[in-house]
Amino acid sequence: MALVNRKIGYDEVETRDLKFYMDTTKVSRHWFNEDPWMTHFMNSILSVVPDGERWVMQSVRKQLDKLTDPAVRKAGIEFIHQERIHAREHDLMNKAGVEHGVPLDKIENVFTVGRKFLQKHMSVSMQGAFAAAGEHFTATLSSVMLEHPETFDETNHELKSMLFWHFVEETEHKSVSYDVFTDAAGNGKAAYFKRVLAMSYMGTLGLPMMAVPFFYLLWKDKELTNISSAKRMVKTLFVDPGVMSKFGRMFLPYFHPDFHPWDDDNRAVIHAWKREFDRTGGDTAKAFDALVAWLEENPEAITANAYAVA
Ligand SMILES: [Fe+2]
Ligand SMILES: [Fe+2]
Repeated sequence: MALVNRKIGYDEVETRDLKFYMDTTKVSRHWFNEDPWMTHFMNSILSVVPDGERWVMQSVRKQLDKLTDPAVRKAGIEFIHQERIHAREHDLMNKAGVEHGVPLDKIENVFTVGRKFLQKHMSVSMQGAFAAAGEHFTATLSSVMLEHPETFDETNHELKSMLFWHFVEETEHKSVSYDVFTDAAGNGKAAYFKRVLAMSYMGTLGLPMMAVPFFYLLWKDKELTNISSAKRMVKTLFVDPGVMSKFGRMFLPYFHPDFHPWDDDNRAVIHAWKREFDRTGGDTAKAFDALVAWLEENPEAITANAYAVA
């Protein structure tokens, strides 16, 4: 299955060199619906996005010489271009947070130390397996958010336009780092072992470790005892739309030997965004609105649980 499916959507992975000029006027202190707990949950992820993007870019770049398939190589290069621009724009978003007094820079600095250590001591192939696992996480998060834009109802429109552009591109290239790893490392048992090891680490240590920066940010913000905000976050993560519970259901299928990221083909959702983006010559705000309208007309398109059903 993996070999048959793996070139889905390669022609759609394109570099959009967009600039959003994020600053404190667009990124408020509690930018996610003016709600501290959910803001800091997202901050605990987004604080390491720029450096995490650089890691996956470097990982793909290091594997390019080992690739046998020109289509995978071309998609890998396009992937690097997309992630470089994501890192640049999220650097600005995080800088705005730091200007509000939110210590996102301290979290990123710690992550960078760990990233450099792992890059130094881990094989290129194992780093490729980590990149593939990390991209499954970002693709899963993106799929849930793309299908539930109402989750961001009280968020600055320009900011959510930027975030949804990123969610769209994470979906466009969701199989690329996986295919690069598979093409470079092969489909044998050793490659399978590496990719399940990387995902096991992400699931059992990586995700729980995110709790540390999350509670650190809440503590620094004096919001640890904001119970009503905590309740809203639990509802968003586990009930409606259930970001983490859907991630839980999309986690196990990754361990199947024939798994491929496009087993959940959710391109129809990003096509709604891209049609309007192309029609308006690159207006991400209108593309966001078009996605919202399309989802209202096509509620059956919600596919976030597709892996579990398959
Ligand atoms: Fe990205
Ligand atoms: Fe990505």
